[in-house]
Amino acid sequence: MTNTLNNNIRKFYDASSPLWEETWGEHMHHGHYGSDGKTEKDHYQAQIDLIRELLMWGDVRQAKNILDVGCGIGGSSLFLAEMFGANVTGITLSPVQQQRALERARIQNLDQQTDFQVADALQPPFAPGSFDLVWSLESGEHMPDKHRFLQAAFEMLESGGKFLMATWCHRNLPPALSKQELKHLERLYKAYHLPGIISINEYADIAVDLGFLQIKTTDWTEAVAPFWPAVVKSAIRPSSIIGLFKAGLPTIRGAFAMQLMIKGFRNGTIRFGLLQGIKP
Ligand SMILES: C[S@@+](CC[C@H](N)C(=O)[O-])C[C@H]1O[C@@H](n2cnc3c(N)ncnc32)[C@H](O)[C@@H]1O
Repeated sequence: MTNTLNNNIRKFYDASSPLWEETWGEHMHHGHYGSDGKTEKDHYQAQIDLIRELLMWGDVRQAKNILDVGCGIGGSSLFLAEMFGANVTGITLSPVQQQRALERARIQNLDQQTDFQVADALQPPFAPGSFDLVWSLESGEHMPDKHRFLQAAFEMLESGGKFLMATWCHRNLPPALSKQELKHLERLYKAYHLPGIISINEYADIAVDLGFLQIKTTDWTEAVAPFWPAVVKSAIRPSSIIGLFKAGLPTIRGAFAMQLMIKGFRNGTIRFGLLQGIKP
């Protein structure tokens, strides 16, 4: 099951990343539009602001060795490498993303302090305790085993190291998800190759179980909600439509599914959750 899933995720990002970069730039995550989502700003700036806000929320003032789990084409990795003068290793399932991240690092003269590998976050190929910050920006939703995902992050951290994550969640339970909500989520899973998402409280329970300390969570749904309508707008430009057809069916399906995110944020089924934990 994991192999088929990872293959589909790889194919999805191999095919869609060049178009995304051309239309949106190097960041494949939401933007932050102020805590109430009402600040009007350039969408690229909003994506940078999300990284800055996340660092502030997680009180990350410095880092030496960072693991970027689900690094895309290295948007956050290069940003963090530059900001902290840190060594950053990014992992992705997509060889196309990895190659582009390596190329971008060379262009930005950050190739000496960064590395990008094709690797599965559930089986990271690094020695335990190698990192003082494990960063995951919108990759958790793809992980088929959320416990193993956090456990691997825990293992990769040195003592005192921090795990910082932002991910797509469903709303907290109870009440249980209704039939309609489950159907909505199923459609989302299919479009974006997600094995299933959980609530931020469930992530926190896993973090407690693993022994993380100083666990905190929050919900930034309101702050990021303006992002998807902006993506939809950009997707109907002629150049994007041509690019969509070139990228193929999974990308087209992903583009249509944006409405599911908009509706899910609006009706509260889908939430944008954050989690921080420190390894003792
Ligand atoms: C939405 S993109 C986010 C990229 C990046 N964090 C950013 O914000 O620009 C999701 C990323 O998660 C990666 N990913 C999904 N499942 C993974 C896994 N099991 N192991 C490693 N990376 C994974 C994908 O390859 C992709 O790079």
